[in-house]
Amino acid sequence: MGFLHMVVISNAEAAREVLQVQDNIFSNRPATIAIRYLTYDRADMAFAHYGPFWRQMRKICVVKLFSRKRAESWNSVRGEVDTIVRTIAANVGDPINVGEVVYYLTKNIVYRAALGSGCRERQAEFISILEEFSKLFEAFNIADFIPCLWWVDPQHLNKRLIKARAALDGFIDKIIDEHVEKRRRDICEGESDMVDGLLNFYSEEAKLNNDSVEQQNAMRVTKDNIKAVIMDVMFGGTETVASGIEWTMAELMRSPEELRREMLRLHPPIPLLLHETAENAAVCGYHVPKGARVIINVWAIGRDKGTWEEPEAFKPLRFLNPEAPNFEGSDFEFIPFGSGRRSCPGMQLGLYGLEVAVAHLLHSFTWELPNGMKPSELDTSDVFGLAAPRASRLVAIPTKRLMCPL
Ligand code: HEM
Repeated sequence: MGFLHMVVISNAEAAREVLQVQDNIFSNRPATIAIRYLTYDRADMAFAHYGPFWRQMRKICVVKLFSRKRAESWNSVRGEVDTIVRTIAANVGDPINVGEVVYYLTKNIVYRAALGSGCRERQAEFISILEEFSKLFEAFNIADFIPCLWWVDPQHLNKRLIKARAALDGFIDKIIDEHVEKRRRDICEGESDMVDGLLNFYSEEAKLNNDSVEQQNAMRVTKDNIKAVIMDVMFGGTETVASGIEWTMAELMRSPEELRREMLRLHPPIPLLLHETAENAAVCGYHVPKGARVIINVWAIGRDKGTWEEPEAFKPLRFLNPEAPNFEGSDFEFIPFGSGRRSCPGMQLGLYGLEVAVAHLLHSFTWELPNGMKPSELDTSDVFGLAAPRASRLVAIPTKRLMCPL
């Protein structure tokens, strides 16, 4: 495409080749002009190329943000699910746009885990920054494919990028300063959110490098890295989990059986994995040049006729077979969280959010479709972007199942 080589992987054998056998070559990430600019030139984890910097960022994130020991991340799931159950309970009998409700829920969970509880107005400001980032990430920019055409900019992307990053700078700089101040006043308070976790890591680093120039550099890096990693977590953890909850609710209305794995097979929240080669390579007899974009089509792999019986059918019971593939990354027929070095670090947190939310929504309410609509009439198409939510939002009417107050 333009000046870029693109390779698409659509079966399990080639996916294994790319994500396991040769993953040292295929673990870079491609980045568009927008992604490079908005991630402070790959100062984050998701778009950093594979190497020592990425390894260090991933280690910090796994230990400081995603570990089971970080109670606040897991508490934020339970706290926000309780709030949403109470809001729905106050509106029983009216149609509820489940898609919008769960998107709001996951944004609140991730916001609270990343930046602390904060006030709701602030949250609204941050969400509007996030939405502009999302539009810019997905916008088509001809300069990504033919760089000399950078001046063809009908969507005014160049100006919008500068404005969007400046808005994020203003927002998170303030939050970082507040966290620094809070720590200065009350050292014993400990870590509560992800910013505290990241600041702790950098103050440990700064102690090792006592000289002042290095300390100043460490602080500059701190702010860019913190901002970029927070955006990774917001993007990685919001739409993926929301789309999972909404699809599970929709599929449950059609066919109420055990279904978590079947939902991830038919509707992987991230349908295309984006990788890039660090060197020339060969996959299944095809030459893949250095710097090529490699797109692993998880959606197609999950519906491959060679692997799955009746691949288009929603049959959760297929997973009762003990030989059925699991989704943890070793069975390449089924890789909703990716596999290998660049696989999802937020898998446990994501699954926890998905399960707690679905369990509470189903335990607390009975759901029916509005206007006498039959479950078989539900639209089951999805939209393709960085994530794959439902094409039309699920709207359903809740009634209370429990006698106790919610
Ligand atoms: C059901 C929920 C989720 C699904 C299905 C999912 C899926 C994925 C997939 C497919 C990848 C890319 C793997 C690759 O390129 O090979 C990924 C990467 C990533 N995910 Fe998730 N994810 C989920 C939840 C989360 C959550 C809750 C977070 C954070 C709070 C998160 C943060 C990330 C990050 C930061 C990366 C980039 C890792 C790297 O490049 O090293 N994800 N995820």
